[in-house]
Amino acid sequence: MMQSCGIPCPSVLLILSLFVALLSVVVAQAIDVNFEECRISATETCALSSLSFGKTKIYPGGNTRCYTEEYEYWFQVDKPTVPDGQDYDNNSPDDTYFSNHPGLLLYFEGGGTCWSTDSCPPLAVPFPFNRTNSFFNRSYALNPYQTWTTVIVTYCTGDLFVGDAVTSDGRTYFNGINNTKAVLKWVADNVGNTATEANPIFPAKIVFHGLSAGSIGIVAWQRVLFQWRNQAFQDYPIKPTTTVFFDAFEGLVKLEIQQLTFDAWDFCSNTDLLFTPEEIQLCKQGETDLLRYSHLYLIENYRDILVAHITSKGDLTQYMTYCGGGLSNIETLDPILPDTSLLLDLGFLFGEAIPSFSGSEVAELLGCCQADFYQTMIDRFQEYHALAAKQGQNNVVSYLMNGNGHAWSAVLYFYEISSTTRNSTRLGIDIKGGQPGLAEWIYSIVNRVDGDEIHSVCSPGFGFGTIPDVWPWPFGNYRCDDEVSSQSFAVTDF
Ligand SMILES: *[C@@H]1O[C@H](CO)[C@@H](O)[C@H](O)[C@H]1NC(C)=O
Ligand SMILES: *[C@@H]1O[C@H](CO)[C@@H](O)[C@H](O)[C@H]1NC(C)=O
Ligand SMILES: *[C@@H]1O[C@H](CO)[C@@H](O)[C@H](O)[C@H]1NC(C)=O
Ligand SMILES: *[C@@H]1O[C@H](CO)[C@@H](O)[C@H](O)[C@H]1NC(C)=O
Repeated sequence: MMQSCGIPCPSVLLILSLFVALLSVVVAQAIDVNFEECRISATETCALSSLSFGKTKIYPGGNTRCYTEEYEYWFQVDKPTVPDGQDYDNNSPDDTYFSNHPGLLLYFEGGGTCWSTDSCPPLAVPFPFNRTNSFFNRSYALNPYQTWTTVIVTYCTGDLFVGDAVTSDGRTYFNGINNTKAVLKWVADNVGNTATEANPIFPAKIVFHGLSAGSIGIVAWQRVLFQWRNQAFQDYPIKPTTTVFFDAFEGLVKLEIQQLTFDAWDFCSNTDLLFTPEEIQLCKQGETDLLRYSHLYLIENYRDILVAHITSKGDLTQYMTYCGGGLSNIETLDPILPDTSLLLDLGFLFGEAIPSFSGSEVAELLGCCQADFYQTMIDRFQEYHALAAKQGQNNVVSYLMNGNGHAWSAVLYFYEISSTTRNSTRLGIDIKGGQPGLAEWIYSIVNRVDGDEIHSVCSPGFGFGTIPDVWPWPFGNYRCDDEVSSQSFAVTDF
């Protein structure tokens, strides 16, 4: 049962912000940088050893594509320069590239979600975009990946990386499975003992970071990713220290939305993600909260992986996806998709959109406040921690910020973010309260050594120091939950 909050959330705001939220995919790109390009073909593998230092767009070809024909699919590899100027090709696997470059970052991009030809152009990014900020700008001292090799699994299919379907009009391709397989093949060909090149590389650390849609992509692809990790390093004495960051999306998406989208993408028939036949059956029946289940599966089955969640307490996009899901007449809103000016058309909103929902739906929307969403999130974290504790040691930490913002690792001010959303010294007051900034926190996780303790972070809550960055600032209880915010991860060998 939804708890209702003190002040009802107006449903116009709800509908408006649904679209604002879904559209707020991070495409900001301040400064252009040069990309090399490489096309995989019968005679060209675009091997890491052959790439120039810096950023390369790799076009894998084959069955990869974006949801429309307009854009070609490519993924991004960023190869760091070697500090002593040596060339990677001349080095042996022991010394070499990865002794100077300790890690591999596999980053799953965000970029919205869609389920039909009409919903795709407004709700999901149609092209792979080149990322040069945050982790992909090596100039920042706090960049934990300054000397790492980074690979971006780009996203232009609107299908959370799990689609393998074409719409009935033949115009929109949900091709996430094929695209992701192509990138992971390149990774397997270039990293670890599954590498086909003469010079396989063994990073000491691996980070999987999912941004928004990419966060769901990682949890869905977990078995493939970790099976690869286990096999790729079996001939090497050290298993890489491994972390998964979920940057927005803690596994809370309403069942109705999961069903709608999974059907459109033909997700449940897929066997590439290594779900068991029983799980595939459950998925088809549509009665299982597959996202929740997958998060629990990860915590329970990959005990040597640290799982780190990053989110704001009132994340607007997550809240809308959670509360706005499952409306029976959602198609009433279809005209908005090709014509967003209808968002400002009160006649449409009050004459057509709102009356098309039943009284109970409107009541549910009114009762589904961001504070309720936050409480659901806290409940879910408690469930994750309880499961982890049952296995012996907690391997889940979280960084909870005030505000409504969504997905943090790609914003241009990433290195200024603190637990009070943005680095408040910008505004002349320091209210970090002794807690690490987001980049510092990630840095400490990525560079952890035995004996360290990684603490969860929660901003002090609503009240002085809260800097909402997107309206409407919700009303309700945003206090840190004692149990969730006191969780930490003691670094030892599992
Ligand atoms: C990178 O993306 C921006 C748009 O986000 C575009 O203007 C620019 O041309 C792209 N740069 C390269 C090298 O592709
Ligand atoms: C990288 O960060 C530095 C330091 O803030 C900045 O001067 C530079 O413009 C950034 N480069 C890109 C491509 O964003
Ligand atoms: C993905 O690739 C397979 C094999 O090439 C192909 O049969 C399938 O149609 C592709 N999926 C899409 C959505 O194009
Ligand atoms: C916050 O901003 C100040 C001034 O811009 C900067 O010196 C400081 O390093 C920033 N802190 C974090 C955690 O980003």
